[in-house]
Amino acid sequence: MEYQLCPSILSADFNRLGEQIQTLEKQGVKWLHIDVMDGDFVPSISFGMPVIRSIRKESKMFFDVHLMVSAPERYIQDFVDCGADSITIHAEACEDLERAIELIRDAGVKVGISIKPATPINDISHLLEDVDMVLVMTVQPGFGGQKYIPECTEKVQELKEIIDREELNVDIQVDGGINDSTMETAMRAGANFLVAGSYVFNGDLESNVQRIQQKMQD
Ligand code: DX5
Ligand code: ZN
Repeated sequence: MEYQLCPSILSADFNRLGEQIQTLEKQGVKWLHIDVMDGDFVPSISFGMPVIRSIRKESKMFFDVHLMVSAPERYIQDFVDCGADSITIHAEACEDLERAIELIRDAGVKVGISIKPATPINDISHLLEDVDMVLVMTVQPGFGGQKYIPECTEKVQELKEIIDREELNVDIQVDGGINDSTMETAMRAGANFLVAGSYVFNGDLESNVQRIQQKMQD
């Protein structure tokens, strides 16, 4: 099983973004979680293609693009052209989720689907064969620095059981409110990709990453 810490640059200092990404890379972090928000699917607006294009020039990390965007199928090719290595779309944001999955697959990058805390696993379980990763949101999407919603742990467990029972090759990512204690809870439930924003970027980046990576190995 592959385990990855996926720092979310939503909590980065954008004045020093390149430098902070280099620090992550030097610490051996392989994944970079990139939160795109459109002010429609979620209340806030973050950043988009020009930022991704710029950091792509300097970084070899795996760019894990989380689209919190209505009708994301409109932008798949754009984000691939900017340098995305995987694209995660929200089940709630697509009229035709199967078609959107196909578009990402055809564009040649990894496919992720995400569900908000209130969306049941049942809504996406029929699509597990077609995706590489499921992102179980553990806060309401839209903002960093929120508290982990404990009820979401059961969803991770339920998803993990289906994946194991059906012998599928699907990774489980959690996103929102991940810290020392919630990362343990989520991993025990079956998550293997951990997104963390404020927990990684608040305070000393280098020592935070070292501590989290050490904890992930325990
Ligand atoms: C929230 C984003 C998250 C966010 C997590 O909508 O999808 O990736 O950056 O931030 P923390 O780790 O601070 O909860
Ligand atoms: Zn995210």
